[in-house]
Amino acid sequence: MTVHKPTPTASDPPLHVAIIMDGNGRWAKRRSLPRTLGHRAGVEALRAVVSAAPDLNIRWLTVFGFSTENWSRPAAEVAELMALPKRYFDSDLDRLVREGVRVRVMGQREGLSADLISMLDAAELRTQANDALHLQIAFNYGGQSDIVQAARKFAQAVADGQARPEDLDEARFANNLSTAGLPPPDLVIRPSGELRLSNFLLWECAYTEFVFQNVLWPDFGPKNLAEAIETYKSRDRRYGGTVADDAFATS
Ligand code: IPE
Ligand code: IPE
Ligand code: MG
Repeated sequence: MTVHKPTPTASDPPLHVAIIMDGNGRWAKRRSLPRTLGHRAGVEALRAVVSAAPDLNIRWLTVFGFSTENWSRPAAEVAELMALPKRYFDSDLDRLVREGVRVRVMGQREGLSADLISMLDAAELRTQANDALHLQIAFNYGGQSDIVQAARKFAQAVADGQARPEDLDEARFANNLSTAGLPPPDLVIRPSGELRLSNFLLWECAYTEFVFQNVLWPDFGPKNLAEAIETYKSRDRRYGGTVADDAFATS
């Protein structure tokens, strides 16, 4: 039985980087601006990071844009957050298509407006043949709810007589998650100073490296991304194996 196959060592650049785009509200507050303007500034930061990713040898970039728990925010803020994909795709989709970026939107479509769903579907469709950079936008996504829907799919297959409980292993389970087919993230970056996952990629982060940065997302730029990658490269990924390089012994 295997967890995800551990291939990269940390000295390789991370192929799959995932980012929790956090700190928009505080960025706005520090400037005495409404939170909505912080979210809009966050879209600009996303644009710059997506452009920089291929030069840093990133093949998969997954960003957390709206969690299943973010519905608990005031209605006006939720409305602004729901409007962000349109803001982003209106200004950037043509360029994403041209630059070979494949877009996927992960998370529950249920609960989103019909207009938003058709726009997300259209962005996926227009970029589906692209392969230069795979951009996953986690929107209305929650790690726990994703695990629950994967469990339901398998339970349904058992109920339908198409599978037996003992057929389930890690690989089959992972195939029912919304990250099916993607390598697990090598590196998760969380700006904003918070030291938690907030329900992001719970299953997928089994052996992921974490870098937390004291910068608010709208101020996050390619330099921060490059810095996080340098930190990542100094890590020793062991996947439960033995110590390759004992940093304590030499310090
Ligand atoms: C990230 O910024 C955007 C979402 C969570 C949707 P926040 O809005 O959480 O900003 P802070 O954490 O309050 O500063
Ligand atoms: C995580 O940030 C979700 C996104 C960035 C989309 P939150 O701001 O919602 O997380 P908490 O509430 O600080 O844990
Ligand atoms: Mg936050």
